[in-house]
Amino acid sequence: MAIQNLIKSVQKSGVEIDDLVLQPLASGEAVLTAEDKDRGVMLVDIGGGTTDVAIFVQGGVWHTSVIPVGGNHFTNDITYVLHTPHNTAEYLKIKYGSAIAGEPPTDVAGDQIEIDTLTVGEQQKISRHLLNEIVQARAEQVVEMIYNEIKRSGYEGMLPAGIVLTGGSAQLPRFDELMREMLGIPVRIGVPSDLHGLADSLDSPSYATGVGLLRWGARHGLAMIGSPHQSHGGERNGWGNVYERFKGWLREFLP
Ligand SMILES: Nc1ncnc2c1ncn2[C@@H]1O[C@H](COP(=O)(O)OP(=O)(O)OP(=O)(O)O)[C@@H](O)[C@H]1O
Ligand SMILES: [Mg+2]
Repeated sequence: MAIQNLIKSVQKSGVEIDDLVLQPLASGEAVLTAEDKDRGVMLVDIGGGTTDVAIFVQGGVWHTSVIPVGGNHFTNDITYVLHTPHNTAEYLKIKYGSAIAGEPPTDVAGDQIEIDTLTVGEQQKISRHLLNEIVQARAEQVVEMIYNEIKRSGYEGMLPAGIVLTGGSAQLPRFDELMREMLGIPVRIGVPSDLHGLADSLDSPSYATGVGLLRWGARHGLAMIGSPHQSHGGERNGWGNVYERFKGWLREFLP
């Protein structure tokens, strides 16, 4: 039902839908190698509202799931514990956040961060270490939930290529390290590879889904994209054709 509603709203905005692709499969398309998928790998896309996972073994997808915790929960925890406005909490997470809080500070003054409070003009000092204890607690919960998913899938001990992280929250410093320590399997951050032209700006785990969708379109040769006559060209599959169609979409979107 939620999907039907989504399809309706997208169509109302004048955009045609050619295919629906599960987010972690799209991200996997951008960051996993054929070897990862053959050996056994789990793609973990940590977004804002959810963490989407997909397990690939022997080249195919064997398990997918949505864990209802993502980056927004980290921000909400900070807001709640430190009584900060939401945007301050988001700023603190992105600027000072770390999934491993480490040892309590010896330099207490150096540990202090000055932030705005909910009262205009009033400032508050908070401890960077306390901030990261909050972040670490939530990060550990996410790792535990990922572990439960691995167990539930029946592929525990069968993922030699380990975990590949994508999504905006994969950028949280030391999240990969925490995961490696807790799960005892390889963990790496997946950045879209083999990009041409836009390489610098898309070189981030945040763009894995977007880049993966483009690749998906290229690989599956979505014939419906663009006007009908375009789908009769000789170059039906591959980047060339999708690039032409992508330019077509851009033309439609831009004023
Ligand atoms: N440098 C960073 N450090 C920590 N978290 C970050 C960083 N940059 C972005 N984030 C977090 O990433 C999240 C957004 O990620 P992403 O763009 O992948 O989500 P989304 O795809 O929109 O959401 P969802 O997948 O849940 O639908 C936000 O919670 C944001 O705070
Ligand atoms: Mg996402």
